[in-house]
Amino acid sequence: MPLPEAFMQELKARSDLGEVAASYVSLRRRGKNLVGLCPFHGEKTPSFNIYPENGSFYCFGCGAGGDVITFIRRIENLDYMEAIRFLAQRAGLQVPENAVDDGMAKLKARILAINRETARFYYEVLNSEQGAPGMRYLLGRGLAPGTIRHFGLGYSPASRYGLVDYLEKKGYSQNEMILANVAFKARSGRAVDRFFSRVMYPIIDLRGNVIAFGGRVLNDEKPKYLNTSETPVFNKGSFLFALNFAKGGGAEQMILCEGYMDVISLHQAGFPNTVATLGTALTPGQARLLSRYTKEIVICYDSDEAGQKAASRAIPILREAGLLVKVLAVTGGKDPDEYIRSNGRNGHAKFKNLIEACGNDVEYRLQKIRQGCDLKSADGRVAYLTEAAGVLATLENRIEQEVYAGRLAEEIGVERSAILAQADKIRGRLRKNQEKKEFRAFQQRVTGFRDSINPEKSTHLRAASAEEALIAYIAKYPEQAISISAKLPPEKFVTEFNRRVYRVIMGRMIDGKAISLTDISAAFSVEEIAAIAKIFAKYSDVSATGKDAEEYIQVIEQEQMKSNLGNADSVPAQDIQTYLRELKKQKK
Ligand code: UTP
Ligand code: MN
Repeated sequence: MPLPEAFMQELKARSDLGEVAASYVSLRRRGKNLVGLCPFHGEKTPSFNIYPENGSFYCFGCGAGGDVITFIRRIENLDYMEAIRFLAQRAGLQVPENAVDDGMAKLKARILAINRETARFYYEVLNSEQGAPGMRYLLGRGLAPGTIRHFGLGYSPASRYGLVDYLEKKGYSQNEMILANVAFKARSGRAVDRFFSRVMYPIIDLRGNVIAFGGRVLNDEKPKYLNTSETPVFNKGSFLFALNFAKGGGAEQMILCEGYMDVISLHQAGFPNTVATLGTALTPGQARLLSRYTKEIVICYDSDEAGQKAASRAIPILREAGLLVKVLAVTGGKDPDEYIRSNGRNGHAKFKNLIEACGNDVEYRLQKIRQGCDLKSADGRVAYLTEAAGVLATLENRIEQEVYAGRLAEEIGVERSAILAQADKIRGRLRKNQEKKEFRAFQQRVTGFRDSINPEKSTHLRAASAEEALIAYIAKYPEQAISISAKLPPEKFVTEFNRRVYRVIMGRMIDGKAISLTDISAAFSVEEIAAIAKIFAKYSDVSATGKDAEEYIQVIEQEQMKSNLGNADSVPAQDIQTYLRELKKQKK
């Protein structure tokens, strides 16, 4: 059931896209519009535009676009109804809930409830006799009872149906448990506990929801950890373990580790600003999420080769998100947890020293290169400086470049200017490649080449362009809509997607309703809304007159006839005559 029109209008009035977006993006005014760095992809020059005139946004870099609801859906990773609730809460409005029957939102709520019950179950088991092996294990790893409680750690019993039976008594169906991924479906069709005989780490999001679990075996069996896989409430690339605790401190700096145990150990040792990825390589989404809560990241990955490789890969991703990056390599211990434990009482102080002494990402990268070169030979020194210049080339800040070039010059005994010249050369090349790439992507979007939302566009480019221009015109001059709809019924549209857009807009106009993107966004998917926002963005600076609109209509009519003629055999001769007459008339 759709939401009441009055509610939607009030919500829209109180949810100005510019204001909403300003808490995620820093925006500058450019003419009537606002521009900034796109929050949906990494970029250095702003291509993210907000058009207050029609409440839409569009990024020319990555093609993200839409209205305020789409913006929230994408940036907060919510579905349509959740985004409405989010905005309503922000605006101090009550969502008329009984009008809402949103299957997905309901399922998500059920899964979150199951997860909460499940966490409670594991927690209680851990603190009962049945959980003794788990408790022994955790205490044996140096965790204090308070830490175990703080993280809500638990234990999944050795039984096959312990959790399933418990949840069934609480009124959840086996199917829901399987969807929540806390149970799997046995061949018999019955739900079976997914985790057993493991210590359980609940993963809690920023709103306090339990969104997933990691479970560790108590011995050397494989797999060491079993994690919740994708569910409607969980995507492992878009959240970080313990960010719910770490974000609160307003931390200038956060520590990024690889493992759950590293995080728990460091929190216990007095570093509550520590987080970890969820068993995968760091994603740009995670980096952007971090950048909302802190300025600087200290990467503290395992000291083995895999850990160091992962650190090198994380550096540019964090930098792209605008974060300062430092790299801490623990020595004397495989990972931060081992380091802390092996230092006993001094763990905190010693780790703090490590943080204070650790170099930034540039120093780290230079050091890695140095390790791979034989500085005693001339060839080795050339290789070192050439690769090092490649690192300098990636730095935005000229002063930073000068400082490192100076250090390298001194170290190897060459002119600083030679190193800088080499860095500039590489930088020029990098920039050219980047520009080429961006230009190609831009062209693809603008020409609608391989447009997945409107696939007919590539074969009906002229029609689609006129249709889009007409749609943009109506959105800009709604008072013209009625007369246009009398001239051009939706059936005349050539491409199906544009026809749908036109029909929805006209349907609302005729009912006397508003037609901004927000008003129509319930009728389209996020991707479709982005495509519509793109249309608005493309025509935002084009001022069209009534005469232009007439022309768009004519083109659409012509193209429609042409496309009907595509199969000329099936067209009565009379129609062809009419068509030719029309064409002549229009050419005049
Ligand atoms: P580690 O093996 O370094 O884990 O893997 P850890 O946290 O230090 O574990 P302990 O100290 O042996 O108890 C790092 C992270 O990779 C993911 C987990 O998120 C783990 O914390 N991982 C690892 C898995 O998802 N599955 C695995 O089988 C292993
Ligand atoms: Mn470990």
